[in-house]
Amino acid sequence: MSVFSPTPEAIAAAAKVIREGGVIVMPTETVYGLACDALNAEAVNRVYEIKDRPNENPLIIHLADWSDLGKVALSWPAVAEKLAQAYWPGPLTLVLPRHPDVPMETTGGRETVAVRIPRHHVAREVIKAAGCPVAAPSANVFMGLSPTKAYDIDPVIQVEVDIILDGGPCEVGLESTVVDLTEEHPVILRPGGVGRAEIQALLGQPLGSIPPASVRKSPGLYLRHYAPKATVRLVSELASGDTGLTFEEPKGENQVRMPKEPRAYGARLYAVLHQLDNAGVETITIQEPPADADWEAVWDRLRKASSSA
Ligand code: TXA
Ligand code: MG
Repeated sequence: MSVFSPTPEAIAAAAKVIREGGVIVMPTETVYGLACDALNAEAVNRVYEIKDRPNENPLIIHLADWSDLGKVALSWPAVAEKLAQAYWPGPLTLVLPRHPDVPMETTGGRETVAVRIPRHHVAREVIKAAGCPVAAPSANVFMGLSPTKAYDIDPVIQVEVDIILDGGPCEVGLESTVVDLTEEHPVILRPGGVGRAEIQALLGQPLGSIPPASVRKSPGLYLRHYAPKATVRLVSELASGDTGLTFEEPKGENQVRMPKEPRAYGARLYAVLHQLDNAGVETITIQEPPADADWEAVWDRLRKASSSA
């Protein structure tokens, strides 16, 4: 394993590894991704292996350009164009009917594909140079915390890949919003980098969602997921002896003061949890954020991180 700055040479080398059926780690604006050729079933199987992820959990396909959508999706409704125009490149993933060229390995045996165009310039340059659609789940071990910095990539993953491109800290810090467009009405399968209210305003209709307990149209719906090694506890206020995340003036040196704005909070969350995990903390206590809709993606990750299921 080697960590490289994303120079043109390193990007070209990473693209070559992908073209030849290998696996690399690349930064995106949401989280780091474990990337391979989405149309190469063997490479995709290797990604499941490295992540130790059940292979019925489909991967997200990343494209560099809208004009490549027809390579992975058989068709798309008008609403897909509207969403893509508003949010691509960016942290929004659309679930569409699968193109027959996409192996069933990539889609976890489904007739649908999840696809997005990332905004991070390194991801887009890698995809462009690779010249193929790129499958990239988050670069964490199954159920673990996604890395938002190259430093936070699990050593288990680091040893398995040839190239890690270090693009600095991820701007969004939480995974993309996944919207299913294959049913009669659009449904949010996973809240994320683009807020529900924004999408609803754009489409002029309410979006369905999956209740947290209903498994498993989307693997992001496993209850315990996005979890640090430490036990996570949600509380209304931290006591002075607690180690964790607060909105208030910290009551001790083990407390991290978090932003009161949901996007800024989301951008820091995984990095702070990784930091506490690295320090060997056994229990992370987190002050509950407001119940507002704006906090949906953060709440989703906190619920999953604190679930024992
Ligand atoms: O921000 C992101 O989306 C990051 C970066 C690397 O792009 N990727 C990511 O991938 O989070 P992953 O594999 O960790 O999460 C994939 C999510 C899962 O929640 C899964 O349910 C959903 O995408 N998904 C993928 N294909 C799907 C499909 N065909 N139908 C329904 N959900 C799908
Ligand atoms: Mg993931």
